[in-house]
Amino acid sequence: LTDITGLLLSRIRDVPDHPEPGVVFKDITPLLADPVAFAALTDALAEFAEGVGATKVVGLEARGFILGAPVALRAGLGFVPVRKAGKLPGATLGQAYDLEYGSAEIEVHAEDLTPGDRVLVVDDVLATGGTAEASLRLIRRAGAQVAGLAVLMELGFLGGRAKLEPALAGAPLRSLLTV
Ligand code: PRP
Ligand code: HPA
Repeated sequence: LTDITGLLLSRIRDVPDHPEPGVVFKDITPLLADPVAFAALTDALAEFAEGVGATKVVGLEARGFILGAPVALRAGLGFVPVRKAGKLPGATLGQAYDLEYGSAEIEVHAEDLTPGDRVLVVDDVLATGGTAEASLRLIRRAGAQVAGLAVLMELGFLGGRAKLEPALAGAPLRSLLTV
């Protein structure tokens, strides 16, 4: 088992004042552009998926799609997109959640998650935890189990991990990097 932390960190770019003044945005596009780092990330998350006994991978729009789809393939699992409201064409289940100002809603195709499923949720960044928390509720409301939540990076100072504790209900949260 090699430690890939340094490799991953070296491929994440800090962008000051994006999307607004005072925010230092963690940009993962250099990591995606490096096939060695992208493969190492995919392998690490796929190993976690296997370890928690996942049967499906849910990716959270949009960057959770980029990471979640190769993880699903690598682990031999199906991929299910959770999208921002209004994008999915079929019968959906929706979950609203609060943002700093206002609210948002995510949706999933109800038929893509079944009661036997154990779902690993994949995203790039855990910030306040609002998006991930809503996705966990959605998965349970669809009748499936939550096998775990895996993110590339956790912004520790925003307290997302603590906020998620009730919604995780004992399921593991794995972040490869904490900044
Ligand atoms: C970002 C990120 C996570 C979410 C984390 O997505 O990719 O999904 O925010 O924030 P939270 O923990 O405070 O909910 P964004 O909504 O910017 O969408 P994008 O991936 O489509 O750019
Ligand atoms: N980087 C990427 N996504 C994010 C960030 C960030 O710093 N904060 C909230 N979502």
